[in-house]
Amino acid sequence: MEKEIVLSGIRPTGFLHLGNYFGAMRNYVRMQDDFNCYFFVANWHSLTTHPDTKELQQSVLRVVAENIACGLDPNKVSLYVQSDVPEIAELYLYLNMLSYKGELEKTTTFKDKVRMQPDNVNAGLLTYPVLQAADILIHRAVKVPVGKDQEQNLEMARNFAERFNHRYGETFPLPYAFNYNSDLVKILGLDGEGKMSKSENQMTTLFLADTDDLIRKKVMKAKTDQGPLSPNSVKPDYIQNLFTLMGLVSSADTVKKFEEDFNNSSEGNCIIRYGDMKKQLAEDMVHFISPIRSQATDLQNNKAHLLKIIKQGADKARASASGTLSLVRKTIGMDYL
Ligand code: ADP
Ligand code: TRP
Repeated sequence: MEKEIVLSGIRPTGFLHLGNYFGAMRNYVRMQDDFNCYFFVANWHSLTTHPDTKELQQSVLRVVAENIACGLDPNKVSLYVQSDVPEIAELYLYLNMLSYKGELEKTTTFKDKVRMQPDNVNAGLLTYPVLQAADILIHRAVKVPVGKDQEQNLEMARNFAERFNHRYGETFPLPYAFNYNSDLVKILGLDGEGKMSKSENQMTTLFLADTDDLIRKKVMKAKTDQGPLSPNSVKPDYIQNLFTLMGLVSSADTVKKFEEDFNNSSEGNCIIRYGDMKKQLAEDMVHFISPIRSQATDLQNNKAHLLKIIKQGADKARASASGTLSLVRKTIGMDYL
């Protein structure tokens, strides 16, 4: 049986963090054996918000290195850079004719970005979801492992695919956001507000490149309070987030101990010690992040090797992309030569 096609991308707009890892990359790694996978660095997308390209090359190679350090095997998947696959840009052009200003203006991410960069509301920003749809549809991918924040973009990709199929003829299968657990993941910042993110909240985001000491410092500064006022209380978001993080990097016994301490605490009899919990979380986090950091650093010191990997990835991606594009041109009736 043919393996299902999987695609996902990450923008090279900064250092990768735990949100990227648990929202996206962990699933990439799990999917690489069972599916036909394409993973790429979305450097065109980064131009919509980061017009300065001084650090872009280095950032692209770091994203590639960090993905491999997290367990992606470039011999199993196609790991490539978006701009090395020009077929995507042609599909983007066709899809642009099927997308409408009104629906693009209504997108949450567009509205957020307009607020954040009112002096640079460029057409690329408006048509960001169209380019993302082209990324996905160029390989006729059906599963897209992404975090919760990408659901709307996926819905738009399905709309564009359906419109294309309807107008020109059945060409694209419909793509869906994918996560191994039923819910898409969202990792909050260490203050329990907003999500961990490449560009905001540097001190409340844990990056895969953070040193051991910085990891400890950030975790110890995470927001807590005086403890629960009655047994089995509902956890405030910032406390729940610490438990979530612990659930991701600590042993089941450790989590169980702190859960029990939390549930048995009350005002005047507070068993849970958030200081101890954070110390434990910090050590488990260091244990989790430091091997990834050191492997990613080694890879980045061997640029020739990284370039070979992205060349191999681009060759594989272009073979798939040019096949889809021939089909697209034929379906539209633009196959003259
Ligand atoms: P960022 O928001 O940090 O710039 P991207 O937008 O490039 O990151 O996202 C890359 C992938 O990581 C996407 O699949 C996105 O859903 C996921 N992701 C980013 N931040 C988080 C988070 N805090 N929790 C869960 N998933 C996330
Ligand atoms: N928009 C995605 C993000 O911000 C990155 C991305 C670009 C992407 N093209 C994609 C994700 C295609 C999945 C599929 O995270």
